[in-house]
Amino acid sequence: MLILSATRFTGMLGAWRGRGPAYADLADRTRLLILDGRLPIGARLPAERELSTRLQLSRTTVSAAYARLRDAGYLQSLRGSGSIVCIPGARQDTAPAAVPGTLDLSKAALPAAPQLAEAAAAALGQLPEMLAEPGYDPVGLPALRGAIAERYGARGLPTEPGQIMVTIGAQHAVALLSRVLLQRGDTALVESPTYPHGADAIRAAGGRIVPVAVTPRDGWDFEGLEQAFRRARPAMAYMMPDFHNPTGAVMEPSLRAGLLALAARTGTVVVADETMAELDIDSPGPVTPLAVHGPAVLVGSLGKTVWGGLRIGWIRAEPDLIARLVQARFANDLGTPVLEQLVALQVLSRYDEILAGRRELLRAGRDRLEGLLAAALPDWDVPRVAGGLTTWVNIGRPVSSPLTLAARSRGLLLAAGPVFGSDGVFERFLRLPISYGAPETTRAVEVLASAWSAMGESPAPPSYQPAVV
Ligand SMILES: Cc1ncc(COP(=O)(O)O)c(C=O)c1O
Repeated sequence: MLILSATRFTGMLGAWRGRGPAYADLADRTRLLILDGRLPIGARLPAERELSTRLQLSRTTVSAAYARLRDAGYLQSLRGSGSIVCIPGARQDTAPAAVPGTLDLSKAALPAAPQLAEAAAAALGQLPEMLAEPGYDPVGLPALRGAIAERYGARGLPTEPGQIMVTIGAQHAVALLSRVLLQRGDTALVESPTYPHGADAIRAAGGRIVPVAVTPRDGWDFEGLEQAFRRARPAMAYMMPDFHNPTGAVMEPSLRAGLLALAARTGTVVVADETMAELDIDSPGPVTPLAVHGPAVLVGSLGKTVWGGLRIGWIRAEPDLIARLVQARFANDLGTPVLEQLVALQVLSRYDEILAGRRELLRAGRDRLEGLLAAALPDWDVPRVAGGLTTWVNIGRPVSSPLTLAARSRGLLLAAGPVFGSDGVFERFLRLPISYGAPETTRAVEVLASAWSAMGESPAPPSYQPAVV
């Protein structure tokens, strides 16, 4: 069970004070943290007395907030166990995606590529050839490893099939790498903001996160990177150089070489999550993998380019690391499903055509979102992204969480800025996907505009320093 100290919980709350009574604001922010998944089910909140001291509120205020959460089914108070986070099972508002008509833009994803059904049918036709074998495949079908290696070659990075391990999506790859590369207590460099489940995987492996700043317009803070490497001597650096999630930033070529040189000095393994790298919208040619510039472990996936339901990802690493990863894998799973791998092989034989279609959708989605936001919310700063699935919008006031709650009550789910940071940072930001069609994007912007104007011009709560090393 996660036991939250008052200090940690206060950090997660961020600037929670709004215009309402303190107890209601505190309950609302806690509810959002639960709904966002930032506060896991089963976590124990700090005792009322401890929290009231930390927040400099009266005990009655904190009690009233907890009571409100209990009444709404988000807290269970058990004698001797404290206040435990839960989700009210039968209530409609606890399963937002299931509420009829709710639009879920908390996920940045495309619907399946139209070629997928045909690819799956062809793969099914190939399955009988495999059925004489036991079917447990911890490293990947030779043909699929070969096809992935060949693709790296075409993108400027000669690769042997022995350098490829097929995984159950990129998430699995990041989790497995974290388990193998990190010892409990090791530091891991992670961008801030970052893809939250990547950070989750690192924490679950016992890694201590050292953040380095990334912004949509200025990219990576090289000085911050240098300092972080020097001070923390991280065992691993988890980076997204191409179409960073959530900002869409792209790392400058000179910075790539600089990053790998820093890592070489401290013996840090750089893990580049290139899940989005081939979703470029404006590049004239293929985006080159980070390992073109020096030693780096690469993670790829078909989850974002083809379909999230196709659970195929991979790791590109030197064969000795691949061997360690395969050994480590058995504690959690016994291999990647063979049928999915056959589908992936089919998909890769038409990958250029599939990617061309995806790029067209994303280009249209980006231009549409930019146009709608410029008209409805002209004060928001919407950076133009050159690829990936999201843009990181600066809404100008540190109210991303309350805005997300207001949108939710109007039937729109979004991921608030702080989901991508820690300790309540990024309240001025909202991640918006560019991957949705015209009806969804139009409706989303309408809801946002209405939620924004309903929030009025309340005095902004105190803002935060961006995470710095
Ligand atoms: C940066 C990044 N890495 C990894 C993943 C997980 O990908 P997969 O579906 O292949 O597990 C995601 C999904 O959102 C992502 O955004």
